[in-house]
Amino acid sequence: MYAFFRDLLFSLDAERSHDLSMGFLKHSQHTLFKGIYSQKLPPKPVQLLGMNFPNPVGLAAGLDKNGECIDAFAAMGFGFIEIGTVTPRPQPGNDKPRLFRLPQSQAIINRMGFNNKGVDYLVEQVKQAEYQGVLGINIGKNKTTPEENALDDYVACLHKVYAHASYITINISSPNTPGLRNLQYGEALDSLLRGLKLQQQQLAQRHGKYVPILVKIAPDLSDEELEDIARSLMQSGMDGVIATNTTLSREKVQGQEHAEESGGLSGEPLTDQSQAIVIKLKSALQGSMPIIGVGGIHSAETAKARLEAGSDLIQIYSSLIYQGPKLIAKILKGL
Ligand SMILES: Cc1cc2nc3c(=O)[nH]c(=O)nc-3n(C[C@H](O)[C@H](O)[C@H](O)COP(=O)(O)O)c2cc1C
Repeated sequence: MYAFFRDLLFSLDAERSHDLSMGFLKHSQHTLFKGIYSQKLPPKPVQLLGMNFPNPVGLAAGLDKNGECIDAFAAMGFGFIEIGTVTPRPQPGNDKPRLFRLPQSQAIINRMGFNNKGVDYLVEQVKQAEYQGVLGINIGKNKTTPEENALDDYVACLHKVYAHASYITINISSPNTPGLRNLQYGEALDSLLRGLKLQQQQLAQRHGKYVPILVKIAPDLSDEELEDIARSLMQSGMDGVIATNTTLSREKVQGQEHAEESGGLSGEPLTDQSQAIVIKLKSALQGSMPIIGVGGIHSAETAKARLEAGSDLIQIYSSLIYQGPKLIAKILKGL
């Protein structure tokens, strides 16, 4: 069934088919049509960060940037759902075209640039959702906010989403917002995380609940950079890390149509690179905080390998586009 719709959708421009699919999910999620993608999956519970996950397979950030389809993704059986990246103010993102398929590698290149309707809109969507499971909200900075004021944007989002999130992800690893990845290094990272930790402590008191903060990192990091990041995450008392975002590397897709488009590459070409980051991160963090593994997971085998490498949970995005929601069942069966 999914293969039929996918072939139809893949005959259209990538962003147009994304918009159509999301429109269908949004409008069907509270109707009988949700039966098309709903599935009941065997429980594979995981306890982490003080929460119960019905299974370890989550939806990665960026597919439901505005939180409009939460109940649809819940119906597919995800163990947790991450929405966003959302920014304080709405923004259009980069010029189109900005989304490309590389079907030969089951990969995607995107340079969306945090197109989103802003944090107030997202919070309204979360309030309207029926979903009661684990919901991560991924936050970022507006393109027009200068790099030195990045903390202000993260704090603004943190305040607005705090009451509505199970966990909050700090996205400092998108390659499509100029300068964002600079926040992964040195004093810029330390002061950002210090600032966010302080806010988290105040918000925990105010709301009477502690919401964990996770940091999402890039796969394009040297061993030394990764060790520095791990040290910084531990020192600042972060609750976990999500590894990884998309890559700037084109090594695995050379010669393919669209391979030279700028942006982040995701899907199968990212599998080994993200896997290697998780292994190194696990050793650098010495079990001090959980890791959510994401990047090129596309089968039960790659999911299992990512968990064995040290991830406590995993997320998927590109493989969901290529294989549809049945992949979640396939992964769970193989774990
Ligand atoms: C079109 C597209 C948009 C994305 N947008 C975001 C985003 O807004 N925030 C984010 O943290 N990650 C974003 N990502 C990255 C994914 O969450 C994930 O980290 C990455 O795609 C690797 O996983 P995959 O190989 O399973 O796709 C996006 C990925 C794609 C393909």
